[in-house]
Amino acid sequence: MNRSSATVATRATAENCQRTANGGVTLWASDREVRLELAATRHIRYATVHPSGYVLDRTNPALRDAADGRPILAVVDRQVYNLYKNDLQSYLANETNLCGILPVDGSEHAKTWRAVQRICEEAIRVQLPRDGLILAVGGGVALDVAGFAASIFRRGVPYVRIPTSLIGMVDVGVGVKQGINAGGKKSIIGAFYPAMLNINDPTFLATLPERHISGGMAEIIKMALVRDVQLFEELECRASELVCRRFQNNPDAGNILVRAEQLMMEELQPNLFELELQRLPDFGHSFSPAIEAASRWSINHGEAVALDMLISTAVSVVKGLCEQHVLDRLWNLLFSARLPTSHPVCKPRLLFDSLRGMRAHRAGNLNLVAPTSVGCATFLQEITVGEISSAATLLWGGEIVNAGITRRPRWDTSAVRTVATRRVRSSPRTLPDTPIRRIA
Ligand SMILES: NC(=O)c1ccc[n+]([C@@H]2O[C@H](COP(=O)([O-])OP(=O)(O)OC[C@H]3O[C@@H](n4cnc5c(N)ncnc54)[C@H](O)[C@@H]3O)[C@@H](O)[C@H]2O)c1
Repeated sequence: MNRSSATVATRATAENCQRTANGGVTLWASDREVRLELAATRHIRYATVHPSGYVLDRTNPALRDAADGRPILAVVDRQVYNLYKNDLQSYLANETNLCGILPVDGSEHAKTWRAVQRICEEAIRVQLPRDGLILAVGGGVALDVAGFAASIFRRGVPYVRIPTSLIGMVDVGVGVKQGINAGGKKSIIGAFYPAMLNINDPTFLATLPERHISGGMAEIIKMALVRDVQLFEELECRASELVCRRFQNNPDAGNILVRAEQLMMEELQPNLFELELQRLPDFGHSFSPAIEAASRWSINHGEAVALDMLISTAVSVVKGLCEQHVLDRLWNLLFSARLPTSHPVCKPRLLFDSLRGMRAHRAGNLNLVAPTSVGCATFLQEITVGEISSAATLLWGGEIVNAGITRRPRWDTSAVRTVATRRVRSSPRTLPDTPIRRIA
């Protein structure tokens, strides 16, 4: 404490503590301290838009209007860059004030400090000004690293996102979070930093590998199961077809995307910065970080979310909070969306131990989201290792299968099997890129 504030502090006593306020700054003086307090709020408004045509068509004004003449550094998923290079270069060079295009890798291994540093270095190299724009184009990984770089470069420059994966559209592109992996931990470092605009154009999904379409379906199923019976039923009818057709040429696909995004945004809006840690969007996100990490990222995010949803729902059944037919329906839906329903890393001990990390992440509370019926969920604070073992037995008959991630459930699912089984049989899953095969 410097001399002058010490003088004020000793003059004041607890009884005659003084308060003077000027705007959002308040001066408190007591016999213990002099305190200056600042209070401010930040107004947040952002949008996720579905343009009526292909966003990289030069007649489409969505991106040009959003950029509004600002200098742009485009950070583009390398795979997407290779596929859409001509359209990207043509649009950005002719319709915007382009400073540079930086391709970045788009896999979980690439969600690193190094990637963020590389983007910041490029922004310095092209002299991106404070009002310049980082344009992020790609899947969740590219959006995460570019968004995080935008949040720290010059202590924050505006950014716009064009998600090109399904997870990017229905999850990343509606929220305000960015994260990178470090120390073997999933998304352990990051920021809350809203994009100015998210442009969701399902045209990009036409080239997204099926495995990643399925991964995105997991996030849609997540919201349907805890919030929306009608959407869940619609998915039960259409999941297989949506995955096969990659959300193309299907009049219902756009509505399903918008509904899933709306559900997410409704959940996020009152709690954008996660001051409240009981969050329905965390369904499927309690065990999944450990599952992803334990598989050394060979299980992708959506696949881990699918496995987590099954485990969390099975725990709810074991605790008597949820009827088994909900679990059966979830299993069948995941199956028809070509998502895994079991995996060797899902050992009860790993699942139980992962909850310690989750408690730390949720400030000491478990807040595990557990469905109670289709469309409703509750939060669990305690789970025993015995309950997790029982859940695993319920799901996988006591053994963790080593192959065949599309194994059928053992219990009677006659009520829903007709729809799901018929659809699955009509379009059998090809397994060359499944996590089971990649794991040693
Ligand atoms: N920040 C958030 O709020 C948030 C929310 C959900 C998920 N995530 C993160 O997102 C990541 C998962 O996202 P993802 O599934 O998009 O992964 P991803 O970014 O790794 O993309 C998956 C693969 O698809 C490729 N790809 C993307 N778009 C393509 C297209 N149109 N055509 C062809 N290939 C394409 C990518 O190159 C990559 O190989 C995870 O790291 C997860 O943690 C973040």
